[in-house]
Amino acid sequence: MKILLLGAGGFIGVNLTERLLKDGVHEVTAVDIYKDKLNEIEDPNLKYVELDICTDEAALEQAVIDHDVIVDLVAFANPALYVEDPLGVFELNFIENLKIVELCSKHSKRIVQFSTCEVYGRTSASTVGWDPKDHPQPFVEDETPLIMGPIKNHRWIYASAKQLLERVLHAYGIQKGLNYSIIRPFNFVGPRIDFLPSEQAGNPRVFSHFMNGLLYGTPMQLVDGGGNFRAYTYIDDAVDCIVRILENKDGKCDRQIFNIGKPDNELTIAELAELMKKIFNEHFRQDGDPDPEIVDVSAEEFYGEGYEDCDRRIANIDKARELLGWEPEYSTYDVIFKTMEYFVNKHRAKQGEAPVEA
Ligand code: NAD
Ligand code: UGA
Repeated sequence: MKILLLGAGGFIGVNLTERLLKDGVHEVTAVDIYKDKLNEIEDPNLKYVELDICTDEAALEQAVIDHDVIVDLVAFANPALYVEDPLGVFELNFIENLKIVELCSKHSKRIVQFSTCEVYGRTSASTVGWDPKDHPQPFVEDETPLIMGPIKNHRWIYASAKQLLERVLHAYGIQKGLNYSIIRPFNFVGPRIDFLPSEQAGNPRVFSHFMNGLLYGTPMQLVDGGGNFRAYTYIDDAVDCIVRILENKDGKCDRQIFNIGKPDNELTIAELAELMKKIFNEHFRQDGDPDPEIVDVSAEEFYGEGYEDCDRRIANIDKARELLGWEPEYSTYDVIFKTMEYFVNKHRAKQGEAPVEA
């Protein structure tokens, strides 16, 4: 298959590119404005195209025409940006993404659209004042209502833009026959996620902040106490599912939405901080390494005004199990250990030190 990966230079894109090329049966065109992570991959079936999808519509259209399936990963995906630049998030994650949908419809191409588990928003338990801890509510793709917070909490612009894009795809499907599949990732983690804030400016997702603390000694900050839950999915498990969706055996994924997650990997953010510290101390600590404090910080101090958190996110993955025969394998411990090992080795290589012994 000739696959066009838009946003291929990011965390999911680079891991997906590598996996698609491994089998030697697909040709991948990797489109991004950023190439550093893709530089690690050398393969005759990989073509990199440096393209800003917002500025060169003609090149984008030609790329759509030239491929069998279009995978759209382009988005701003870090919560700090939802608070800092809600309009920028709307423009890229909805307006620019909509153009890709329109081109796929115009040229009758199948699109695989990356959405987010954030479209589910808050649990209904939390909105009636129940403690989500006592009310696990797995999110089901075609059943669960999508609950966003008030407009003044503009963090929800990301989830709202993604939700509207999903609704537009559905409408294109029923009115114009567009063939699409939608993916809702639940907190993927693994090698090449984001960046460390001591090495690059910006405000990445939580794993990178905590890793930064362990390697550079900055405090590990728990936003509003770190009591909210996440369930982390290892990138290799996720990519395995994404490839099945892309290959779309017997058309089983036509006009389907899929949760991709590992429901039993749940922990609170405070527990994540403790687990990362424990793993670091037991497996990676060397003389002279820092020992960061775990401290509380308010959401307003950390993100600014307009933040609100998703309290609990549990994926129901029955659809992926039944239609794709997929089952994620990596436990919480393994997800965190393997991702930490990647960052520790990268850091050691930078210092001219030997990698962690297997
Ligand atoms: P990422 O930020 O690592 O990757 C996004 C890529 O898009 C980046 O490489 C960026 O350079 C590229 N990009 C941005 N603007 C562009 C433009 N104008 N033209 C071309 N390329 C551009 O994010 P990710 O974690 O790999 O996420 C990929 C997709 O999956 C996003 O749509 C995100 O919303 C969604 N998602 C990811 C997760 C997760 O767990 N990582 C969870 C939910 C949803
Ligand atoms: C992420 C992003 O929105 C997207 O990548 C994606 O849509 C989705 O969720 C996903 O990965 O499935 P979120 O999980 O809220 O959102 O992003 P993180 O920055 O990783 O935050 C997780 C939790 O840690 C939040 O409760 C946040 O408040 C907290 N946090 C973050 C801290 O306690 N300390 C930090 O230093 C950073």
